[in-house]
Amino acid sequence: MLPEAETVKPDRPKPRKFRRPARLSFPLTPGSALKTILRVIRHPLASFRLVHDEGVLRGADFVSDPEYRERWSASIAEYVHWYFADKRMMHSISWLGIPTRKMLPDMWVYQEIIHECRPDHIVEIGSLFGGSALFMASVCDMMGHGRVISVDISRENYRVSHPRIVELTGDCAAPEIVDQVEALVGSGTVMVIHDADHTREAVSRDLELYARFVTPGQYLVVEDGVVDVFSPLHSRMAQSFPDGGPLPAAKRFLKQNSDSFELDMTRERFVLTSNPKGYLRRRASATAGE
Ligand SMILES: C[S@@+](CC[C@H](N)C(=O)[O-])C[C@H]1O[C@@H](n2cnc3c(N)ncnc32)[C@H](O)[C@@H]1O
Repeated sequence: MLPEAETVKPDRPKPRKFRRPARLSFPLTPGSALKTILRVIRHPLASFRLVHDEGVLRGADFVSDPEYRERWSASIAEYVHWYFADKRMMHSISWLGIPTRKMLPDMWVYQEIIHECRPDHIVEIGSLFGGSALFMASVCDMMGHGRVISVDISRENYRVSHPRIVELTGDCAAPEIVDQVEALVGSGTVMVIHDADHTREAVSRDLELYARFVTPGQYLVVEDGVVDVFSPLHSRMAQSFPDGGPLPAAKRFLKQNSDSFELDMTRERFVLTSNPKGYLRRRASATAGE
């Protein structure tokens, strides 16, 4: 456990303007100009191939190592799709040996949110093996604060036991499960993560049921809207959600609740995310339970 002084909530970083690094441009300084001239002299052919479009480099054009030029030649879209669609990737991710279905930058973002917001309770709807619940419990352990309420309809694959995790087994939409969550969170501060049935209808239903638990300044995370980003014409992953998945549900929820929730795009600053438009923060002025 970290000493208490290390866990003091830092000032909230100012939201930064979100920019997609689709193009990388290099400011011309005397130093960089000299380096460029030397590089052109040493590698004339490669330089001719690399630099085009008025000094803007694209894709892997500026990767000179042949192996990494090939390995890093995929676009962000290709990379993200591969990460989710290729089971060899998705099924290889684990936290302390327990599988989790997460895109790694999202886990880092979770760690940042948990540390900044210090929720008393993190309600995870959908835990599967328990890797993500264990990850968040580990962060809570290091902070010496917080616990995870894991809601899942099935414990068939679940492999975790941790003093900071409470398991509720049942359909998250069942009134008795919602009531138990309500009793457990009491008047504490609450973050909610939805990672269960990803059909648009189910996500919308669950957001309606659980958003009220999220306390001001805390997050409601809608997982896996990435499935809606890809075209069903080209992606089997997208074809699995013919009526839409988490992304349209999150957008609809935000539209209808813009007085109490706001989208925090700074949580997508690593670009790679499972949760496009899925990091929703309850406005500080909103009253819990509204
Ligand atoms: C995508 S997995 C969760 C992955 C996990 N959060 C992780 O990152 O490792 C979805 C989970 O949601 C659960 N689930 C599906 N529908 C549910 C429902 N109506 N209520 C509760 N859990 C549900 C499934 O049993 C499954 O374990």
